[in-house]
Amino acid sequence: MKVEGQATMVGVIGTGHVGLVTCVSLAEIGHRVIGYDQDPEKISQLRSGSAPFHEPGLRELLARGLASQRLSFTDDVADCVRGAKVVFICVGTPPRAGGEANLVAVERAVRDIARHADGPCVIVEKSTVPTGTAARVKATMQRENPERAAELVVVSNPEFLREGQAIQDAMRPERILIGAESAAGFETMRRLYGPLIANGSQVFEFDVSTAELAKYACNAFLALKISFINALARICEQAQADVVAIAEVMGSDPRIGRAFLDAGIGYGGSCFPKDLQAFDRVARRLGYEFPLLREVARINDEAVEAIARKINDALWNFEGKRIALLGLAFKPGTDDIRFSPALVLASKLVSEGAHVVGYDPIAEHNAKAEMPQLEVASSALDALAGASCAVVCTDWDEIKQLDLSEVRKVMAEAVVVDGRNIFDPDVMQAAGITYYPTGRPPRRVSP
Ligand code: UDX
Repeated sequence: MKVEGQATMVGVIGTGHVGLVTCVSLAEIGHRVIGYDQDPEKISQLRSGSAPFHEPGLRELLARGLASQRLSFTDDVADCVRGAKVVFICVGTPPRAGGEANLVAVERAVRDIARHADGPCVIVEKSTVPTGTAARVKATMQRENPERAAELVVVSNPEFLREGQAIQDAMRPERILIGAESAAGFETMRRLYGPLIANGSQVFEFDVSTAELAKYACNAFLALKISFINALARICEQAQADVVAIAEVMGSDPRIGRAFLDAGIGYGGSCFPKDLQAFDRVARRLGYEFPLLREVARINDEAVEAIARKINDALWNFEGKRIALLGLAFKPGTDDIRFSPALVLASKLVSEGAHVVGYDPIAEHNAKAEMPQLEVASSALDALAGASCAVVCTDWDEIKQLDLSEVRKVMAEAVVVDGRNIFDPDVMQAAGITYYPTGRPPRRVSP
């Protein structure tokens, strides 16, 4: 899967999750890519072929890109921009205190591009940005470099990368969304993604505002599905009904679909929480109140509270009790702990006096850096040893495959609260474990 004819010179500003995956995937399909990051340490790490975060397949593609010399890295933004025909903006857009996206890094990237571009260039918004950002980008370029501004075309090309599957999503995207205002913008992007399009990826071409908004719409709708099923889980818990069975019924209707109807401790990660807030602020700025989005976030917070209530039901008081959190990453397949519900729960339990011990196959270091007061064990059984309650926070295979008789043996009290519904209630009961699933009736075993 390689570009036919001439490869494009591509600059990528920002080598975080999205930026680095963009770098390696474009180099893999034959383009010449220079990734820029302001952090010189990160650049030397990347140059030596070491990936700064866990992402399956990333290290291999990074090594191949470097070996082919199609991929290089710099800490000088001029090197990244000069000569590039396409520059991707992949910088962070963290939430401000009020919830709106902080676009300081985007503005800095645009200024850098305007200053160093030495010919016609397509500037691609890859970071998720509020509707209206492209107009700001154009105005900034005009101000920064009036002579060149006419040669600089702005395109919106939001990513749909799932962490843990990001390489696969980048190499075989289900859809490629391009928002542009000129034929040149669409043509350049089609040429750039030529091999992926030839391989079957569907392309959507819209105006820039539609593309910018489509990304928010997708993430908000997925979060809405999760919160819907979590609200239903609360009702099921009162009605002694089974949310997993209801999700199957709902999912069998192709108009609804089964995906993202897994009830549990809630969503986290670098996208849903932040994008939902930012979308709410964008809607308000545009004159539309969208309280549904705030409700989605509230139900998500409530999901953690519901887990805490179950622990409380099982233990009575938290103080001085050892509670094991199985999984700290916001989902399996990643070491990312940003907005992880596991850590939200951990700080709540710690603040109420519990002795919390976490375990995660790969997110251990990130969790410790984020929450130094959290004790982290080096195996699930070590975390469980002497615990009065275990909480499944991340649906790692390793946790699904735990030997339940061992679990029962090492725990002080065999109580499992399942925030991901990974266990079969009958099997748990048979193993002598008191089991609190999410949105399903609990199974209590007499001590
Ligand atoms: C998401 C989008 O899926 C992706 O398209 C976008 O580009 C970036 O944001 P990601 O943040 O990697 O990707 O995570 P995703 O796999 O979507 O899961 C988000 C969260 O929802 C996780 O915490 C996961 O555990 C949770 N989740 C997911 C549920 O609680 N229930 C579900 O049914 C599905």
